[in-house]
Amino acid sequence: MRTSNQQVVEHDQSIAAALDDPQEILRIILDPARRGTLYPYLHRLRETAPILRTDQATGRPAWVLTRHADIRLALKHPDVRSDARGAEVFDVGPKGRHFVDMQRNTLLFLPPDKHDRVRRLISRAFTPRSVDLRQDRIQGVLDGLIDRVQPTGHMDFVHDFAFRLPMVVICEMLGVPTEDLPQFYDWAQDSSRRGEIGGINEEVVRRGEEATLGYTNYFMKLIEDHRKRPRFDLMTALIDAEDEDGSRLSDEDLVGSCYILLQAGHGTTQDLLGMGTLALLQHPEQFEYLKSHPQAIPTAVEELLRFDTSVQISQRVSDVAFELGGTEIGPDEVCVLFNGGANRDPARFSEPDRLDIQRTPNPHVSFGLGRHTCLGASLARMELCTALETLLRRLPELRVDEEHPHAYRDSLFLRGLETLPLRF
Ligand code: HEM
Repeated sequence: MRTSNQQVVEHDQSIAAALDDPQEILRIILDPARRGTLYPYLHRLRETAPILRTDQATGRPAWVLTRHADIRLALKHPDVRSDARGAEVFDVGPKGRHFVDMQRNTLLFLPPDKHDRVRRLISRAFTPRSVDLRQDRIQGVLDGLIDRVQPTGHMDFVHDFAFRLPMVVICEMLGVPTEDLPQFYDWAQDSSRRGEIGGINEEVVRRGEEATLGYTNYFMKLIEDHRKRPRFDLMTALIDAEDEDGSRLSDEDLVGSCYILLQAGHGTTQDLLGMGTLALLQHPEQFEYLKSHPQAIPTAVEELLRFDTSVQISQRVSDVAFELGGTEIGPDEVCVLFNGGANRDPARFSEPDRLDIQRTPNPHVSFGLGRHTCLGASLARMELCTALETLLRRLPELRVDEEHPHAYRDSLFLRGLETLPLRF
């Protein structure tokens, strides 16, 4: 039987196949009102113009890339960087200044030397071994979340489950008291919205500023408190961290690091959990297979990361002219990398639109590559594997709620679901 989801995808495939103008295809991809079936349009863009010069994506001239090979090359090229020039795309003038300044202090946009130093200090807390030590706590959080919803027989997976797990985990790692969690909800949403491509109106900018100032004041107080009363958490470790030359992180570095860890550490995993669970439930035979073969969960998680990733876009700027797939990219030019385009590239993945939870190898780019490779990848994998194992074991009758459809958020850079009603 064909599911309604297949019908929607086929409908978009036929619309996309009739489009020949790459700028028009990109316009559809960037349209905030249409966020569901993305991949037919990414395929069509890759077919018509895999390296597209446009000013639609960032409001100024940029190259949009959709092929796996090109994106891989741009991510690994030693002279193609993510630094403060990338943060300029968020610049909307003085009214949005705090948000842009905050971005410049995060790992993603620091100058290379400083990036490497700050990353070295933070990454000590994210080694696979440090992450392993968190497994029991992650399991405890998951069991608590399921205990709460189990008697009701239904939940909004995004609100009741996917949002809570990564937020609790990263806040506990950082030393943020659990009772302060509710105030992060709006800041996290508003900050993600402000970092989007397209649809940035005055209200989005205003809320982005409020969120940035909220985060800054909150973290400054928490840092002060930790300085007075050190604890066994990441915040204390970052405050105490000393490089070989004896230097330490400044207050600005500390706030920028807390901000990126919290923002990058929760929404991405929340969205992957939501879209990954939806993909599995839309492929019931694969869901059933995993129930009886839980040892296949790590391979399945890699496929869910590939199939529909939460970080759809990365950005780079070249220091020098370089050649990409026969096109010369000039110095200082921005490249916008569509990770979802790479992950579904038929030149790299056979039958890329088919979910195959046993796919190996699986060279997706969902955690990036090169210097800025996701620092939290081990933690995210642990959260995703443990969550999936717990869901399959404790809610084996899990299914989509046919009466209440799921909906995507109005966002592309960080793709995700706003709501996913489930029954069990
Ligand atoms: C499924 C979940 C996740 C996905 C899909 C994801 C994806 C990514 C991607 C694609 C990048 C590279 C961005 C670029 O190259 O421009 C990145 C960087 C980063 N991620 Fe993740 N991430 C996830 C979870 C996490 C978690 C749980 C944390 C931390 C607790 C985290 C922290 C970071 C940080 C700090 C960076 C910046 C690294 C740098 O610039 O050196 N991420 N992530």
